[in-house]
Amino acid sequence: MIPACIHHLTTQPSWLLFLSFIGFLSFLKHSISILKWVFITFLRPPKNLKKYGSWALVTGATDGIGKAFARQLARKGLNLIIVSRNYDKLRTVSKEIQADFPYTQIKIIPLDFSGNISAGVRLIEDEIKGLDVGILINNVGITYPSAMYFHEVDEKVWMNIVKVNLEGTTMVTKAVLSGMIQRKRGAIVNIGSGAAIVVPSHPLFTIYAATKAYIDKLSKSLDVEYKHYGIDVQCQVPLYVATKMVSKVAAIERSSLFIPLADDYAEAAVRQIGYEARCTPYWAHSLQWCFARLLPEPLLDSWRLSIDNGCEFFSILCPGFHQRAQTQGQSLDFYIGLEGLREAESLTLSVMCKIFPYIPMRGNQVKVMSELSALCVPYSLELSAFQRVVSFTYYLVRVVSFTYSLVRVVSFTYSLVGVVRDSYIPFTLFSSAHYFQLTIFSLLSSAYCLQLTLLSLAYYAQDAAVRYWVEL
Ligand SMILES: NC(=O)c1ccc[n+]([C@@H]2O[C@H](COP(=O)([O-])OP(=O)(O)OC[C@H]3O[C@@H](n4cnc5c(N)ncnc54)[C@H](OP(=O)(O)O)[C@@H]3O)[C@@H](O)[C@H]2O)c1
Repeated sequence: MIPACIHHLTTQPSWLLFLSFIGFLSFLKHSISILKWVFITFLRPPKNLKKYGSWALVTGATDGIGKAFARQLARKGLNLIIVSRNYDKLRTVSKEIQADFPYTQIKIIPLDFSGNISAGVRLIEDEIKGLDVGILINNVGITYPSAMYFHEVDEKVWMNIVKVNLEGTTMVTKAVLSGMIQRKRGAIVNIGSGAAIVVPSHPLFTIYAATKAYIDKLSKSLDVEYKHYGIDVQCQVPLYVATKMVSKVAAIERSSLFIPLADDYAEAAVRQIGYEARCTPYWAHSLQWCFARLLPEPLLDSWRLSIDNGCEFFSILCPGFHQRAQTQGQSLDFYIGLEGLREAESLTLSVMCKIFPYIPMRGNQVKVMSELSALCVPYSLELSAFQRVVSFTYYLVRVVSFTYSLVRVVSFTYSLVGVVRDSYIPFTLFSSAHYFQLTIFSLLSSAYCLQLTLLSLAYYAQDAAVRYWVEL
């Protein structure tokens, strides 16, 4: 078999061998990453958490992810110190956990992180004196009540977000760290967010995303600082989890394949404690992250902006939608410069409006779409020929980059399916049935530079066009 393969190889044209070699390297790289992911996510045994110490402290433990963490840690045999703002809720959670895990000792500390944090943290220091606190879950976190432009956010609201997410996490870490240093062991888990790490931007929740970016950097740097003290610091990065917070900001009421229940999320998260300095513990979240990486940044930016304005898919093709959603009844002047873009979008919009009634949408999206349709169609604008050309070019670039992304995702998925289905192994590469897959792999990898250039150009063109209209 091997001589036949070698003979087959030597009879191939050199350009194909070169492309195949690049494709094979790319295939190898992807295969190793996939195997590593499978191992880390499903097969790697969790660490023995009791080795870090017999107590775990969890902040924001009366609801959502924090409460689920507390239960999972009790299941692992750890005693708990739970911290949250509401004393009655803390008592209820404590009783619930003790009903299921009667041998767990639980201390409760009522602390409002948006109040006097210094006094609260002194309380924590007093309570944990003499306790072997091996695990800290810095989970407490808040966000805006709903999607908002930065200039619309009440100062008290965003100051509270900074206080709870950033000051709270930092000060509790400092309070617990000194004991860990003395004992030379400990694990600190800071709950970050996909808002800061998975997507390139998180418009309309800007301060929240910024505080979570801080959490990410804090964790990574502390991990390096304290590794040699035997302390593992980690930033865990959840995407959507079905909790109270998410039902408020994203109108998500139920769990689904990509939006786990807090208990399922925490079960996966506890398995990862003590490993990589940054991780996405839930398997479906890491898949989402992987697909997000295949998309160009401008597309993800538009998508985020449109989701938070409630008109999702439509805004990707028609970037002016979200501005108009915001301008109804307020600050129209700022967006008036973008009027020219309407012309270019009208084509898509008129088609969309025809199919719009047949697309399943959530309540708020239907409302936004109806308002936008009423606002935008029909209209006519007096535009110069030059303005039209700029508008259409802008629009064309967006459509092309969107289509390109779809093609990329589809072709990648297609070749992956082909590979799995046909047990694609290197020495059978050159049978004619595999040529097509091989070429796709090769092209995918060798076209990478070209793609980057195109995307940079697209980005530049979009940016320039928007600035042009705003300045007009
Ligand atoms: N859910 C998601 O999709 C998601 C995604 C990415 C990241 N995260 C992060 O995960 C963490 C937990 O989120 P979650 O969805 O579980 O939130 P959640 O359901 O709203 O629960 C938040 C917890 O924090 C407590 N809390 C809120 N404000 C507080 C304050 N000022 N002082 C003390 N405790 C306070 C709440 O207490 P009460 O019971 O009194 O309300 C509750 O126990 C947050 O850091 C969040 O940013 C969540």
